[in-house]
Amino acid sequence: MKYTVVLPAAGSGKRMKAERNKLLLELSGKPIFIYTLEVFDKDPHCEGMWLAVKEEERQLIEDYVKRFGIRKVKGYATGGAERQDSVRAGLELAGQSEIVLVHDAARPFISPVVISELVERASESGAAIAGVPVKDTIKKVREAVITETVDRAALWMIQTPQAFRYELLLEAAHLAQADGFLGTDEAMLVEHMGHPVQIVESTYDNVKMTTPDDLIYGKAILASRLQ
Ligand code: CTP
Ligand code: MG
Repeated sequence: MKYTVVLPAAGSGKRMKAERNKLLLELSGKPIFIYTLEVFDKDPHCEGMWLAVKEEERQLIEDYVKRFGIRKVKGYATGGAERQDSVRAGLELAGQSEIVLVHDAARPFISPVVISELVERASESGAAIAGVPVKDTIKKVREAVITETVDRAALWMIQTPQAFRYELLLEAAHLAQADGFLGTDEAMLVEHMGHPVQIVESTYDNVKMTTPDDLIYGKAILASRLQ
């Protein structure tokens, strides 16, 4: 089944503590976001990518896209102050498609198998997102004292891609904007509408490059894939 993908890339990467957008940092000679785009570029079911970027970085990003021979970028939306604003701008520019995925440009190691499972499930049920079961014991803490140990069996760590029927996600995004509802992912907007969201088990290496230690992990993942 065919799909399109919106990639928010308009952040500033404060937690990475670099002087530039973390997505432009290189892992083994290639900017982080290029690895991400390559996964979708190679997937025959992907019909097009729309990137949300900062206006002042657009030219640089376009140049990289050309230099690394990425063919499926169809357009660049201007990102907003929050990730949710950037995603909405990308969705509006991308326009109608049956299935749309939202994927953080900062997650370069997404598996094509997970993408295809997400697309399948979203086409059946409207919404499906990637995640992995929590590995650690999780406790609630107040003023450095445990208040509760949470049942881990029910907990998942949520990633992207998040896949939706386009109409459903656009409606959810507009409702969230009207209600002033801020979500940390797209699924929250759909949950806010009362629509069920399915989860697809992803892989633990689908990490988001967020803090400097993630770059070390990212290099190790790349090295292991070359073996
Ligand atoms: N993003 C975006 N627009 C924003 C904020 C984030 O498009 N206003 C994008 C980022 O570029 C990234 C993805 O959303 O690809 C996930 O966000 P995150 O990892 O939080 O990236 P940053 O916001 O850049 O990092 P930080 O929160 O550390 O500043
Ligand atoms: Mg952020």
